[in-house]
Amino acid sequence: MDDITQSVFKGDVASNPRRVAIAERLTPDFFALERDQVFRKSWLPIARASEVPEKGSYVVKDLPTFKTSLIVIRGTDDTVRAFYNVCTHRGNKLVRAGDGCKQRFACGFHGWIFSPEGELQTVTDEHSFLDLDKAKLALRAVNTEVWEDFVFVHLDANPKESLKDWLAEFWGGYTDYFANFQQVAGYKLTVNCNWNLAINSFTEGYHTLYIHRNTMPDYQGGKINPQRHRPFLELLKRHHRYSAPANPDHNVRDTEALAWRYGRKLIPAFDDDLTGMPSGVNPSKHKNWAFDVVQFFPNMLLLFGNSWYVEMHFWPLNENQCDVIMAVHHYKAKNLGEKLSQEWSLSRGRSVILEDLNTLEAQQEMLSSGALTHVQLSQQEMSLQHHYKVMNEMLGIA
Ligand code: FES
Ligand SMILES: [Fe+2]
Repeated sequence: MDDITQSVFKGDVASNPRRVAIAERLTPDFFALERDQVFRKSWLPIARASEVPEKGSYVVKDLPTFKTSLIVIRGTDDTVRAFYNVCTHRGNKLVRAGDGCKQRFACGFHGWIFSPEGELQTVTDEHSFLDLDKAKLALRAVNTEVWEDFVFVHLDANPKESLKDWLAEFWGGYTDYFANFQQVAGYKLTVNCNWNLAINSFTEGYHTLYIHRNTMPDYQGGKINPQRHRPFLELLKRHHRYSAPANPDHNVRDTEALAWRYGRKLIPAFDDDLTGMPSGVNPSKHKNWAFDVVQFFPNMLLLFGNSWYVEMHFWPLNENQCDVIMAVHHYKAKNLGEKLSQEWSLSRGRSVILEDLNTLEAQQEMLSSGALTHVQLSQQEMSLQHHYKVMNEMLGIA
């Protein structure tokens, strides 16, 4: 028994709810509360700074959670800012969709022009406006800060914390990590389930023995960790992270062996050489490390591997629907062999993600029926316990 991997917990693990009232969360009123008390009071990652690489580059980000649209623009001063995507004349959506680069943002309705810094530069037929104060008619700015290429916004006019304070221990833990990779796939799905259920299904490893038994029967755990307990799990004030256990006795099949002959290990075998990785990756330096799952509260997950990472965003549309947006990033392939090797892993990963999504609508159907008021959570679902603890704190629920 001594060789069996034991979970190491860090942070306040004692005060988390082990029974969570779930049915009451699946109502329109509860969703409105979450939107206003949680999402509107959190720093939310909505874009990457690398999406707006040049001065004047912009990208439109619709936020259906808030029934609004933002435009992220890199100014001529190289600062990345976000604005409500609304013309300050009569409220036209300034840029309908997409991305590009320009020095003047002209509204299609009556031709008002804004600079990349949001100033109102030109009012057409200006003399017809009496009492016009152009300085007061700049684009409506949203609080914006950038961390490691992620553009975060805060929709509250006066955030109580800077992004640095909000990210706390994460702030300096992943320096320069993201520059090592390139995006190789992206998915966006609208799922008929509450966003809490969706994000919960990616923040525990308990399910992996069962849901993924056909696609990845032995990628985690193994005889040193038959229940696949997380070797390390850390709870911060709002965010949390854990490390997933690799199986050192993973049975490498012929196709996988072929893939690794031409490229680095991704999944289901894992490369645990942490040379050059920042301190936040595999924070406990666990020997049989597979990858980390990190929840940036409330709605972003990053799965950190050595040669890959996955980015997942969960945006509620209402109480029973959410958008799940994912991007898969791999090490930069230098030749066709590495590219083909990556494709093999990518196709395997796609099946696993579909399995993860498979239970969500069935779970939503049954939980919204009211047949079950609460869910019961284990120590291996500590991330879920913590998620609901932080949610309850922000919602003012005892
Ligand atoms: S609404 Fe934009 S110029 Fe009139
Ligand atoms: Fe899974």
